[in-house]
Amino acid sequence: MIHLTEGDRMPEKLPVEFVWNPEFGRDPYAAYAALRKKGPVHPIEFPPGVEAFLVVDYEHGRRALNDPRLSKNPFEGPEAFRAILGQGNPVLAHNMLNSDPPDHTRLRRLVAKAFTPRRTESLRPRVQEITDRLIDAMAVKGHAELLDDFAFPLPITVICELLGVPVEDRDDFRRWSTALITPPFDDEQILLRVEANAAIRAYFLRTIAGRRAEPRDDMISALVLARDEEELLSEEELVSTLTLLLIAGHETTVNLIGNGMLALLSDPGQLRLLREQPELLPSAIEEFLRYEGPVERATFRFSTADMEIAGVHIPKRSLVHVSLGAADRDPGAFDDPDTLDITRADNRHVAFGHGIHFCLGAPLARLEAQVAFGTLLRRLPDIALGCPPDELSWRQDGSLIRGLRALPVRF
Ligand code: HEM
Repeated sequence: MIHLTEGDRMPEKLPVEFVWNPEFGRDPYAAYAALRKKGPVHPIEFPPGVEAFLVVDYEHGRRALNDPRLSKNPFEGPEAFRAILGQGNPVLAHNMLNSDPPDHTRLRRLVAKAFTPRRTESLRPRVQEITDRLIDAMAVKGHAELLDDFAFPLPITVICELLGVPVEDRDDFRRWSTALITPPFDDEQILLRVEANAAIRAYFLRTIAGRRAEPRDDMISALVLARDEEELLSEEELVSTLTLLLIAGHETTVNLIGNGMLALLSDPGQLRLLREQPELLPSAIEEFLRYEGPVERATFRFSTADMEIAGVHIPKRSLVHVSLGAADRDPGAFDDPDTLDITRADNRHVAFGHGIHFCLGAPLARLEAQVAFGTLLRRLPDIALGCPPDELSWRQDGSLIRGLRALPVRF
């Protein structure tokens, strides 16, 4: 475990334990604050054996997210990273998130129409219906595990319906997603990843074949048409795009609901304020995103040239982690960054990223969160944590996503 205090000398390179230990899992923000005092950019050995750097301030982080010298294409990455990639993650390698222009522009454009704020808004009645049904089932029990009973089924149902895959397969999707986004540090994780990769690929290839034979009114059929009739994307890109949408469509929103609910239920003053002034809901959601955003470090990039960030030399083919969690707690960008303030004005957080890869699903995530938080507070007016906050445990698998393992609540 590594402690950084005022007087500590910095290690030459932060060891993997910096981000992969239970203490960091509980409170990464304290570790980031200590690091930020030493400087905005630090070499780090994460994943192990890979030449990498960690950006922990808002200004350089935001700029890095939009720097064309920093590629999203994993094949531009360090050799050691490509070796890890070779251990079973190619299914995610050929979509908009993992490509640069012009491929990025082409692949994003194909699905962007489905995610505009207007199209998304039309889903509100259905999102409300799903939310109500989940709360009906919880309400009779008097207690719930909010992630399994609510925060997971809501976004996965929405994204399954949008894509056109059966929601009954959601347990498989969850298992595969977890395996694909967990950094593969040991043989067991590598095996799970290889299996998940093959399984999700086979699943979508089967579904695509089905739509070729019998098109429906869903996103998969539209993408199959774009592939077959207009040749706008390859079969590999089609599978990769569907995988990305499925994973991005739920892994993150689950944790916006979980992390946001924990923050709110741990702060009686803010909870009271939101109950008294429900019109604060949109700004409360932006604050949950800033305060405890779900995408912690899953925004890495690869340097395509020797470059400098904040005076630190970054050799070509390095991996650069931009910590959105650290940027959004930077006192240089936010007053009282460690305080949850649902009335915060001008909240220019980077929880959805910045630049050309800015989250395509942000309008959908915001809609789901508005319906989820609004309905939970209205229909379960006594909702409270089911255990003291320090008994909760965070995912601590070196994961790049910030989320709880479970969130018991009673009402
Ligand atoms: C990209 C966060 C929900 C789809 C991103 C990025 C972030 C992010 C930070 C940029 C990554 C980077 O620059 O490396 C979030 C958060 C969410 C959320 C915090 C929920 C609270 C969703 C949903 C969808 C979605 C519901 C729906 C399918 C995408 C896609 C991209 C993306 C397709 C890639 C965009 C591109 O590369 O141009 N998201 N996301 N996200 N997100 Fe989300």
